[in-house]
Amino acid sequence: MGISKSTVLFEKAKQVSPGGVHSPVRAFRGVGGTPRFIASAKGAELLDVDGNSYVDFCMSWGPLIFGHQDQDILEAVQAALFRGWSYGAAEPYSLELAELITSSIPWVEKVRFVNSGTEAVMSALRLARGATRRNKILKFDGCYHGHADSMLVRAGSGLAEMAAPDSAGISDAVAADTLVAPLDDLPALELIFEKYGSEIAAAIVEPIPANNGLLLQRDEFLHRLAALTKKHGSLLIFDEVITGFRVAFGGMAERTGIRPDLVTYGKIIGGGFPVGAFGGRADLMDQMAPLGPVYQAGTLSGNPVAMSAGIAMLKKLKRDCPYAALEAKTEKLAQDLQKTGAQVGVPVTVQRYGSIFWMLCAELKEPVRRHDVVPAIHRETYARVFHKLLEKGIYMAPSAFEVSFLSTAHHDTHLSAFREALKESLGEVKPTK
Ligand SMILES: Cc1ncc(COP(=O)(O)O)c(C=O)c1O
Repeated sequence: MGISKSTVLFEKAKQVSPGGVHSPVRAFRGVGGTPRFIASAKGAELLDVDGNSYVDFCMSWGPLIFGHQDQDILEAVQAALFRGWSYGAAEPYSLELAELITSSIPWVEKVRFVNSGTEAVMSALRLARGATRRNKILKFDGCYHGHADSMLVRAGSGLAEMAAPDSAGISDAVAADTLVAPLDDLPALELIFEKYGSEIAAAIVEPIPANNGLLLQRDEFLHRLAALTKKHGSLLIFDEVITGFRVAFGGMAERTGIRPDLVTYGKIIGGGFPVGAFGGRADLMDQMAPLGPVYQAGTLSGNPVAMSAGIAMLKKLKRDCPYAALEAKTEKLAQDLQKTGAQVGVPVTVQRYGSIFWMLCAELKEPVRRHDVVPAIHRETYARVFHKLLEKGIYMAPSAFEVSFLSTAHHDTHLSAFREALKESLGEVKPTK
């Protein structure tokens, strides 16, 4: 067998881009090996440049709830292209998308569109600081909120809540304004608010953290967080870049009944096109420029093509309401994968919420709610299983700590192909006595 086209392209890409990629996890560092270069995608399937096809469970990291090249979104985008693809002026498309969101989600009274989840978070944090005239932000260890400086921090080694930069290029001063709390730890949360409550502009949380595995939080924890922010005059920001419109139209705020002051959204509201948004209470949002003193802007914000994709996506979500069916399908898949592990004798546990799932190659006594308790065996086994699955045409996220997604385009044949491939893969990685 000759050298693959993906290998050739990866070598070339490394010459012109750092690590050969434009977002680190795509480089397969977490699992080793060569990333597959994808030439096209349709429904639940990817086709790589070597002509191999895969059932996709990564799904562009979540936005493709109706699968690749959904017909309604495709038609909306095609129509938009013929109207011109960037005006840099007021236009009706962002208005329609904003109305779709604000008319269905009561806690989003006003919304502003940006180009990514990172931008949404960065802007929401600035707004929180501007509105409260406080500087500190509380985040949770194990949550990811994009790569704004103040979010690229981890729990420091000294005082548990003090943050340390988690990337070169983040100044100590920026890190010092971020507090980091452990997930699923009510006493630690109480203590942080007791000590710093009057300085905290906002607490930001992924209500179901989905970037370090799927860390299922107890309702009680989220409700207490909401109560503490209220008590101390801090704002509550739900980062729903993954969960918004995915676990319910109103995301985790709808499912928990918690009303955040601000919400951030991302890729889903662009139907997979580059869009982000932040929104929430009108009195807060009206502090944004041009009305208020908090500055934020973007040449391509509210891009008419991306807005048209988002309108088609959200209209279809409202019309079809695919949530219950997707959830049932994901629950069945989760059970089947676990059963497959038991049959072969290699433990597999699936943590799931809505149509998001995380396959752990390990046995769990209780649900994982914090990333620091993930059994070490999972990382090593996952990398091996990942490659075995890939050889058999199953494309999972190339990291043991990234979650997977189902779409309406995943049919029974795709799911049974996954089960069969997993059975064989686990058999191949099973240690021989
Ligand atoms: C919860 C959450 N917030 C923010 C982001 C950043 O979004 P983006 O990658 O669009 O900048 C992500 C990315 O996956 C995310 O999962």
